[in-house]
Amino acid sequence: MSTTTLPPTIPVFPGLPLLGNLLDFRSKRLELITRVSQRCGDIGAIHLGSRTVVVLNTSELIQSALVEHAADFEKTPNLRIYGRPLLGNGLLTSENEFHKRQRKLVAPPFQHRRIASYADVMVSYSEQLQQAWAAGATIDIAREMMRLTLWIVGRTLFDADVLGEAEELGKALTVAMHRFNSEMSSIVHIPYAWHTPANERVRKAVGRLDATIYHMIEQRRRSGEDRGDLLSMLLAARDEDDGSFMTDKQVRDEAMTLFLAGHETTANALAWTWYLLAQHSAAYTRLCDEVDSVLGGRPPTFADLPNLPYTLQILKESIRLYPPAYGFARLAIRPVTLGNYQLPAGTIILVSPYAIHRNPDYFPDPERFDPARFTPEAEQRLPRHAYIPFGGGPRICIGNHFALMEGHLVLATLAQRVCFSLLPGQHIEPEPLITLRPNGSIKMKVTRRA
Ligand code: HEM
Repeated sequence: MSTTTLPPTIPVFPGLPLLGNLLDFRSKRLELITRVSQRCGDIGAIHLGSRTVVVLNTSELIQSALVEHAADFEKTPNLRIYGRPLLGNGLLTSENEFHKRQRKLVAPPFQHRRIASYADVMVSYSEQLQQAWAAGATIDIAREMMRLTLWIVGRTLFDADVLGEAEELGKALTVAMHRFNSEMSSIVHIPYAWHTPANERVRKAVGRLDATIYHMIEQRRRSGEDRGDLLSMLLAARDEDDGSFMTDKQVRDEAMTLFLAGHETTANALAWTWYLLAQHSAAYTRLCDEVDSVLGGRPPTFADLPNLPYTLQILKESIRLYPPAYGFARLAIRPVTLGNYQLPAGTIILVSPYAIHRNPDYFPDPERFDPARFTPEAEQRLPRHAYIPFGGGPRICIGNHFALMEGHLVLATLAQRVCFSLLPGQHIEPEPLITLRPNGSIKMKVTRRA
């Protein structure tokens, strides 16, 4: 892939001969991308073996790449090749006119009016989940949030109950993500068509996830019912030009993409939020005070959300520090100028919410957890694209409002009923796979609130 010649104005982050920064990219990825932004300034290059990756460190350069020059970039070949077994040609991986058409088709369930109708499911499933936790019980909050968001996305977008399968689906997803991750950071690439043990493990995992998705498609086709959800919409969608329906494979690719993107990210956001709250008692107390005074013991509704501003500030601050999509890349398909920097065709750029969210120019004392950074006034003062947990431009996350509403409601529902405290002696670190997961479980003790 790209061994593009970059202009000398772009500083290169020091690395080893031949390998460049590959070892750090594998084992200390978050530290590496943060150090690049600290040491190189606005823009810097790293070498991953023979590949050169340009890291953008200012909101202006990020805006220029994601918005103004969106058409000069595509997703990277890595994502398309290694993401394909799992995501196929769905919304995350497709390009150009096809992507535009599919995005239009998939958009309706994510419009404001429609997502408001999902609020009741989000609250009712959160209530049911917490009712199963005994007072004093120890739970793994990362696992519980994964189960909850999977359950919610299954019901809201596919009108299906997938809670019973959550464990198996979660394991299959982990296998697929590990494989994708190791391909991204290795020098020798093993084609997916080869029957190696690693490939067989991925095939089995994808087969498990496929079974669930194809089952949902088949049931819906058989019933012929229009339930007004995403799945019905995908099955009913017709091509504007030739009037053809989507094939089962295309419906599967879109459904799989939304199923995965729609729960894994939000689950991680929620797990990190509880983790932060358990360590910041003042913010935790203020959260409880807000939900108690606004809700007075009843479950929250969509209409309550504007009256729970501090709850949302906490969520936003948590995804600043632990952005579930901590980095995403693009390939320049033609020469492009970002700010004062000319990048040749073939350049790979990396946009990292994790690093830009730690830039002290935008977020002073960046490691400090401080929900006050997201009062409406403070948020307005932030430069555009300095806070990018959902990306930006035409490929901005289609589920951003869905995710924020879900996080907001889950926090408010659970904070009213239970209090979490961290079990001592755990070594919890973020593990940057495709998303920013905790490196294992996060054990919490549940105390029931009066
Ligand atoms: C906290 C939760 C979430 C975060 C942090 C997040 C983050 C992101 C980011 C950064 C991107 C852009 C990637 C890029 O430009 O390469 C993206 C795209 C996407 N997200 Fe999300 N996401 C979240 C929740 C969701 C939800 C709930 C759904 C669906 C139910 C979803 C579906 C998608 C899809 C389909 C795309 C691809 C959009 C396109 O390329 O047109 N995400 N997400």
